[in-house]
Order: sequence, then structure tokens, then C-alpha cells
Amino acid sequence: MWWKNRIAYQIYPRSFQDSNGDGIGDIPGIISRLDEIKELGVGIIWLSPVYKSPDADNGYDISDYCDINSKFGTMADMEKLFAEAAKRGIRIIMDLVINHTSDEHEWFQKSRDPASPYRDYYIWRPGKNGKLPNNWTGFFMDKAWEYDEKSGEYYLRLFDKKQPDLNYKNPKVIEEVKKILTFWLEKGASGFRCDVINIIYKTSLEDGKKSLSVQGIEHYKSQEGNHKILRELRRDVLDKYDCFTVGETVFVDLKEAKLLSDESRKELNMLFYFDHLEVDRRIAQFIPKKFRARKLLEVITKWQQGLEWNAIYFENHDQPRIVSHFGAAEKDSKYWKRSAKMLALFELTLRGTPFIYQGQEIGMTNFDFENLNELNDAMSHGLDKLMKKLCIPGFLRWNWIKASSRDNARTPMQWDESEYAGFSKAKPWLGVNGNYKKINYASQKKDPDSILNFYKAMAAVRKNSDCLIYGEFIPIYADNRLIIYQRRLKNKESQKDETYTIALNFSSRIVKIPGKFLSLFSGIPVISASGQKEFNGSLLPWDGVLVSNT
Ligand code: NOJ
Repeated sequence: MWWKNRIAYQIYPRSFQDSNGDGIGDIPGIISRLDEIKELGVGIIWLSPVYKSPDADNGYDISDYCDINSKFGTMADMEKLFAEAAKRGIRIIMDLVINHTSDEHEWFQKSRDPASPYRDYYIWRPGKNGKLPNNWTGFFMDKAWEYDEKSGEYYLRLFDKKQPDLNYKNPKVIEEVKKILTFWLEKGASGFRCDVINIIYKTSLEDGKKSLSVQGIEHYKSQEGNHKILRELRRDVLDKYDCFTVGETVFVDLKEAKLLSDESRKELNMLFYFDHLEVDRRIAQFIPKKFRARKLLEVITKWQQGLEWNAIYFENHDQPRIVSHFGAAEKDSKYWKRSAKMLALFELTLRGTPFIYQGQEIGMTNFDFENLNELNDAMSHGLDKLMKKLCIPGFLRWNWIKASSRDNARTPMQWDESEYAGFSKAKPWLGVNGNYKKINYASQKKDPDSILNFYKAMAAVRKNSDCLIYGEFIPIYADNRLIIYQRRLKNKESQKDETYTIALNFSSRIVKIPGKFLSLFSGIPVISASGQKEFNGSLLPWDGVLVSNT
């Protein structure tokens, strides 16, 4: 299956490349950078939403699924993007955001009239004893219901008030989704990344259990009704095309994930889970806790071994930059570069389809904003309000928001040293990170020792090794700093095992490989983050090494 042996690249269009000087990235900008994407060794692009939208949640609030946001270009531009990508052997998957629409979508506007046939497209309820219809809270840290004067009732909205949830108990809504899928598949899409896809079906609207996190989620997370819809979409539309789906699945555990993605069940082809990025966070994913490499290996192992196929990712438009999160960018910046390479080696030696997020390939770091006013992210503002209510002091609130804000990943792509980092000729919609003169694509392209060139080298190593793509994942050892694992595959012709051993150092100290595992490293390193050609049993600070045992 083509989507198993390719590397995917996520584009967040408004921050990728501006072509018309309005400070917002656009589709012609993406087209102008397809060669750079191709050179990286990428075969799939996941395009974050480009549909018509009032942008209350940066395009994840769609007002017309079959039209393009004029800030990004036109449908003709989109068709050209499909064609130009195809010329380079790159397939495109679209972002399917169907838990909710924008409140400006025609369906919702009509639905505000209680007598309209569209009323049941959404979830409307009267208040209860002068209060909201139930005690649910949403994902943006506030209430889950919004009152509509015109209707005299509340509508459910698990995200922003401008993102009303669709009602999946109404078969007409499912028929509408089928039309959207067909529209994009016919245009040339090769699949979909499905936004919060395990929460679309609300089984009941009863009060939720008291929770500091998302209250009420037990009534709609990974429900049987949800599975049925996924099977129906697959059977009636997706299976008729050469395409795949990757689901974004919130708060999912391994058992639920298997039900959603085991091939025999014919639901999703793979999914994004969050566990591995939360090993150093507690409650509601924003309060930090100490990073331990051992814990990371434990979580990675659980998912690598537990699922038939993985979607592997370390970054996306909702997550902090990985080199700031698990790497050295903030802990010990002199190892910024090496740690970014070590993390590249890690991601590209895991089993599954890897997704690289724009800027990850040059080691872009978290933003350097100084206060909340500079942030655009609705979630950061919601979090600040909630923490204020809980009387959490200002400096702690800011520290936590700084580390977790979704804007960390949304600052403009750093292409070169010119003003606004070559992203745009005008002031961008969100500030460029001040480090763009040091961290940018153009300088790394020229430098053989750069993070960018390391990603390219790793992509080539992976491409030439079925073992690194499909092989079994075997954990070997971990402590607080060091991780060792192997990948192993039986070669069909020779019947011999092909094996690789990988060691990663998540610290600024030199770490010794424990004696009993030394023999696994007797081969010559295929590649290492530090560039060491020989391996003497010790890993340099933040180094990663890949050794072939075959
Ligand atoms: C997940 C998306 O990745 C995020 O950016 C968005 O805010 C929510 N879903 C709501 O669509």
C-alpha cells in the first residue's frame, strides 16, 4: 500500500509561504515550494484546511466544504496544486473537519429556524431550570453550549462558539459528508486527515462526571455509533477510491485505537494519538512534569507493538516544536542542532507512516513571544481564563501557556534570512520567530551538516529499508536519559533477519551503553546525529545512532 512506504509532510497553509504579499500563506505559495518538499523525500502532503471559513479557529471552522478560502486562493489554484504535486509523485490528503461546521455555514444559518429541515443538522436543546442543557465543558476550556436568541435554544459546541457540533444521529448529515468526500476524491485528493474523528457521535446528552479536563466526554468518545459511521463512509465512498484516512483521535486509549484502526474492521487506516507527547505533562496536558526517557520508550512501545499500523508524528499545528519539547533547544541550546537530528533519527526509525510538520525539518523552535496579547491561539486564551479562575499566579500561567500554546508551531516558516524570513513581503499574520537568521531553510540547504540535510539522509535510509518501514519494533533498554531499541524483519528471499539497533541520548551528558548491550553496536553506524563514524560504546550529548546488525 503506497501510503505505508511514503513519508508525509503537513502544511499549515497560512504559515507556509505567502505569494501575494498579504502576510498570509496561500496555495500558489505552496505550489512554489513543491520542489523543496519533494527534495526532502516526501510522498504525501497533508494540507490543513483551505476551505471557505471565517477563521474563528484558523480554518477548522468551515462555512463551505466545496469552496476555497479567498485568502488562500481559488479552486483553480487548488486544482493546479493537485496537478503539480502529482507531477512530482506527491499525493495530497485533505483535512476533513466534520465534527462541527462554522456558524456561518448555510446549514447552521438555516438551522436557527426551529421549523427548518436543517434544524436537526445540529444539536439544539432548551435550557434546564434556567441553566445550560447539561454540565459539559468544551475543548477550549469553557462551557459547551451557546444560546441563540433567534432560536430561543442552546446549541452544542465542543470547541469555539463559532463551531456548532453536527448531529450524527441525523442520517442526512452522514449523506452530506459522503458528498464532501466524493467531491474532493473526484478532484484528486488521495485521502483525508479526519479532525477529532472519534467524538462525532453523541450517544446521550446526560450530565458528565465531574472533571477538570473535558467534562461529559464519556458520552461521546469512541462510541459504537461513531464506529458505525466510519464503516459506512468507508463502504459507501472511501473504498471506491485509491485513498487512505488518518484519524485525529482525542483522549484515545490503545483498546479504542485498535477498534478504530484494525484493518479488518474497515474504519480508519491509521490514527494520531497523543500519549507519547504527553509523557511529561499531567492533567489537561498543560501542567509539566519531569521528562524520563524510560517512560517515553514504554509509551512508544505500547503503541508500536499494539497497533497494526501507526501514524508517527512529533509535531503538528497544535503541538509545541519537538526540539523545544523533547530536544535541547531550551534545556541546553548549544545542542539544539544535534538534538533535532537525534529526534529525526528517532521518528524515521519507527514503524508506520511518518508525518513531518513544516519547519520540523530545519529544527524550528517554540515561539519567543513575551505576553498573551501576542498570541492568536483561542485555546491559550481559554486556558488563561480558566487558570485565572483557579487563582493560579500569573508567572505560572504564562510559563505553562508558553510551553503548550498552539502558536508555537504556527509562526511563519523560516525560508531565508530576508525580512519576515522569506515567508512574505508584508508583515505576517503571526510574528516570525526572532531566530530566523540562525534557523532557516536557505542556509541549511547549503550546509552539508544541517538538520535539513540530515532529514534528507534519514529519509533516504528509510526509503531503502523495508526493515525500517515494516519491521517489528523491539524495545531493548531505557533509563532516565537513554533509549535503545531494535527494528527487525525477516528477509523473504534469504529467510535471514535484517536488524537495526538504535540508541538515543536525551541528555547533555555522555552516556555509556550498558555492557550487556554493547555487542549490539559492533557494526558500523549507518548514520549518527553527531556525525561520528565509529561508535565506541558511549553516546555524546543528545546523540542518536543507527547501527546495522545485518
Ligand atoms: C483539532 C485541530 O487540529 C485543531 O487545530 C482544531 O482547533 C480542533 N480540532 C477543532 O477543529
